[in-house]
Amino acid sequence: MTEQLVAERTEDREAYAGGLRFYDLAKRAEWQGKDLPWGERAPIPETKGSPQKVARRRDMWRSVITQQLQADELACEMASQLLNIAPDHEAKLYYSTMVQDESRHTEAWLKLAAEVGGTAERDPYLDELAHMTLEADTLEEKVFQMQVFYERLIISRFRLIARASRGTILEDLCNRLTTDDGIHHGAGMAYERVLLQGASEKTKRKLVDAANRLLPTFVQHALWRPKERAFIGKAMHTRDIEKLREDLEIGVRLAQSLGLDVSDVQLPV
Ligand SMILES: [Fe+2]
Ligand SMILES: [Fe+2]
Repeated sequence: MTEQLVAERTEDREAYAGGLRFYDLAKRAEWQGKDLPWGERAPIPETKGSPQKVARRRDMWRSVITQQLQADELACEMASQLLNIAPDHEAKLYYSTMVQDESRHTEAWLKLAAEVGGTAERDPYLDELAHMTLEADTLEEKVFQMQVFYERLIISRFRLIARASRGTILEDLCNRLTTDDGIHHGAGMAYERVLLQGASEKTKRKLVDAANRLLPTFVQHALWRPKERAFIGKAMHTRDIEKLREDLEIGVRLAQSLGLDVSDVQLPV
């Protein structure tokens, strides 16, 4: 009898083993804020030219750093919410590492912001998006929005920033975050798959509806530019729309790969 119970439990837990694998992976990939090349490299790319030009570039980088700091501060809230509400032991263990990752990311952005003269304007739409995820009804919705969607999209952002800031602390940080968010996304995909296997059609339906409701705000966030980057915003509007469309299509494909019915998702672009 006991043997049978143990066997059932083991079989049960097999599906959650992915959580443990990502837990181990996250532990091995862990780094410290002091590992960044502080004092050895320039924090951001250096510009030559008139004092106005130098100041303008600096403001632009400050606003890039501010947006990432804001995103990681919000990620701290979301990761700790996931740690608290996930019912499964393996998932909780994994989320304990994600809480630490997001805190370390925040620490690094705070230090980098201080190196370049402080923070700039916040993106109001990013706050709104985070609020929607924090207030979402089900764990399935939260994992989908945070780990399946946002943490997948942020990776290409980090690659872009790294490419534009070669040889700087900013580049080093973005490379580390590419790895970390790769793990966050992979763990989220694995967990979401398990959650959806046991979810009702109604829960899946609600998840897709919630994602649909979030899209207009996501578009506003993607196209928003602080005044420091407004001049780039105008020049790059066509590219921004293209990138946005790509991002949304990735989201739809990810949802499909999780077996969700996306037939009535309305892409707002
Ligand atoms: Fe992060
Ligand atoms: Fe993350």
